[in-house]
Amino acid sequence: MLILLLSSSGIFHSLLSQPLDEKDANFLGAVKAQACQLIQLDQNPEAHFSQVLETYLANMPSAWKGHRPFAEWLVDYMQPDQIVDLGVDYGYSTLVFANAAQKNGKGIVSGIDSFQGEGMTGIRNTYAYVLEIVKNLNLYNTEIIKGNFNEVNRNWERSIDILHIDGYHSYEAVSNDFNTWAPFVLDDGIVLFHDINVPNPAFGVIDFFRELSGGYKLYFLHTYGLGIFTKNALLYEAIKNQFADVYDDAETPL
Ligand SMILES: C[S@@+](CC[C@H](N)C(=O)[O-])C[C@H]1O[C@@H](n2cnc3c(N)ncnc32)[C@H](O)[C@@H]1O
Repeated sequence: MLILLLSSSGIFHSLLSQPLDEKDANFLGAVKAQACQLIQLDQNPEAHFSQVLETYLANMPSAWKGHRPFAEWLVDYMQPDQIVDLGVDYGYSTLVFANAAQKNGKGIVSGIDSFQGEGMTGIRNTYAYVLEIVKNLNLYNTEIIKGNFNEVNRNWERSIDILHIDGYHSYEAVSNDFNTWAPFVLDDGIVLFHDINVPNPAFGVIDFFRELSGGYKLYFLHTYGLGIFTKNALLYEAIKNQFADVYDDAETPL
């Protein structure tokens, strides 16, 4: 429903015409066939949903998979009304947030992507693939917004509880994404930065994250690193108490 409304608003464009390369097309075809089989076989709606979701997630390429336990814990803990995921690609982080929010029975997850890809992650158009997953799973809480982050930001009006920044990873891009989207994040909200721990000088996420001030910061090092920024002291303490492998400013080796 939300997708239809947004599409008809004229802000977002129609499907890109750029074809998937052969490898992507084979991968998408195999996952689709597997998921369709599960849809036909399973009669129990909850088990069916979970089986189909797990099949998608297990087969989906993503450099974010290790952050799933934290993201699920966070959504359960915060009970957010609005999550914004900047950078959908095949949909891994967006689906994890959407599934967790659906378990809460509240909250909208907005996955935003140009669906043009980029030089660091790969050039591909996964828009139709992601829309099909959202439809197959009947994720009524999820809107997939096709557009440049800045374009979407210009028309954005809603407060945000959880902002996940995982678009282009240069210093300038991350700085722009934070500075344009963070004003919508509530004072008790949180901003997550993927890829703070990538040994490649083209990735400027850690440089930007080191400079950030005015809130509490935490660092996961695994899965290319996840930086956490919040002004919410209770949330900061809760994360520190919950996860033994998270570092604070004084402890981080980054
Ligand atoms: C690293 S991938 C996202 C990975 C995803 N979060 C996951 O869990 O696997 C980055 C995505 O950001 C998108 N992107 C990068 N810069 C963008 C921008 N300025 N506007 C819209 N999308 C952008 C790319 O198209 C790409 O699909």
